[in-house]
Amino acid sequence: MPLASSRPNTSVAQAASGVNWDRLRQDFPVLSQLIHGRPLVYLDNAATSQKPNAVIESIDHYYRHDNANVHRGVYTLSERATQAYEAARDKVQVFLNAAQREEVIFVRGTTEAINLVAQSFARPRLKPGDEILISAMEHHSNIVPWQMVCEQTGAQLKVVPINDNAEIVLADYRQLLNKNTQLVAITHISNALGSINPVQEMIAAAHEQSIPVLLDGAQAAPHLAVDVQALDCDFYALSSHKIYGPTGIGVLYGKRSWLDAMEPYQGGGDMISSVTFEKTHYNVLPYKFEAGTPHIAGVVGFGTALDYVSDIGLDNIAEREQQLLKYATQVLLPLQGLRIIGTAKLKASIISFVLESAHPHDISTILDQQGVAIRAGHHCAMPVMERFKVPATARASLAFYNNEDDIDRLAEGIKEVNRIFAGI
Ligand SMILES: Cc1ncc(COP(=O)(O)O)c(C=O)c1O
Repeated sequence: MPLASSRPNTSVAQAASGVNWDRLRQDFPVLSQLIHGRPLVYLDNAATSQKPNAVIESIDHYYRHDNANVHRGVYTLSERATQAYEAARDKVQVFLNAAQREEVIFVRGTTEAINLVAQSFARPRLKPGDEILISAMEHHSNIVPWQMVCEQTGAQLKVVPINDNAEIVLADYRQLLNKNTQLVAITHISNALGSINPVQEMIAAAHEQSIPVLLDGAQAAPHLAVDVQALDCDFYALSSHKIYGPTGIGVLYGKRSWLDAMEPYQGGGDMISSVTFEKTHYNVLPYKFEAGTPHIAGVVGFGTALDYVSDIGLDNIAEREQQLLKYATQVLLPLQGLRIIGTAKLKASIISFVLESAHPHDISTILDQQGVAIRAGHHCAMPVMERFKVPATARASLAFYNNEDDIDRLAEGIKEVNRIFAGI
């Protein structure tokens, strides 16, 4: 294992920001355990991040003290539950800098947010010959809903290519925008490659032709400050569980003008203002799109997670994760037979790689024996694997609570894989 003194000089635990990262790590109880006799190193943050005590406690508190259904009761518990639920909406509004709280729709996650737009926004507008434009680095969640809606309407899916560094080819993007394009749906940050896309420029180019843009923010929202008004995106989708909040909850942000003009695609309780057998009138925004009892505890926990990351500061988090990315890249690149897939100039703290000596699943299995958790597979982005002509990659994705020791343990583990599989 490299000694601290031999480390590339990229960071110290107490960064210029003044944030004590070592102390923050203590907020995550799951990280303080042994896996196969070794301290856990958790490097699968792009799949889901761990939860701080504050989030766990807020969910516990909600169930112990406030649990009731929202928007329905006039008794104290229901009022408390409603207040906590709606307070979280205000927090999301601030977190994304949305112009209005009504633009924040709670959904199950990024996947549901995109499906909502596909069914409520795109489906009624699309006709044969229309086009939806995505990129070659999308997660299946930002491919399949569009394929489904294309099948339902006769529209076509178009794909912007990416170059060998895993960057969107902007010239091709501009060429693909045309009068038939009804929507651009692009990932802000790629989960499989780490690329941070030039979304501001892409949105501006689409808007020049009055084409609305949806951003898949599943990987961006945890790692950089998102301002939907500055971006001027029409829709933004994100998942709580990647931002240190609970699973099963997420957000669709949409510009009010679009949301007002959209019909809900799910019917049920809470999304109506009146129902008779002859006619139903839908509720106002945002409730129109929140049919049924929502994941109240999840929303409460998510609100706490947003408080938690906002206290640290997204800019501080981004800076710390860039330090870790730089360190990890420097430590991993010299390892024998290792090739990083995804070398965009602008990159988040995600390192996908392949090794000459072993399949990604074997790498992940050997690392697990050493207490190091990484992901192996296609990362729900099979077309990315095809683009780079690899069956799968191993992926280490870093969060602010990771540190240089974690990265050293990863490197040690990879050396062990090389020893076992290639005797090197
Ligand atoms: C870029 C991207 N989009 C969409 C998703 C889907 O998110 P969820 O499964 O939380 O709906 C993910 C999850 O990994 C992702 O990384």
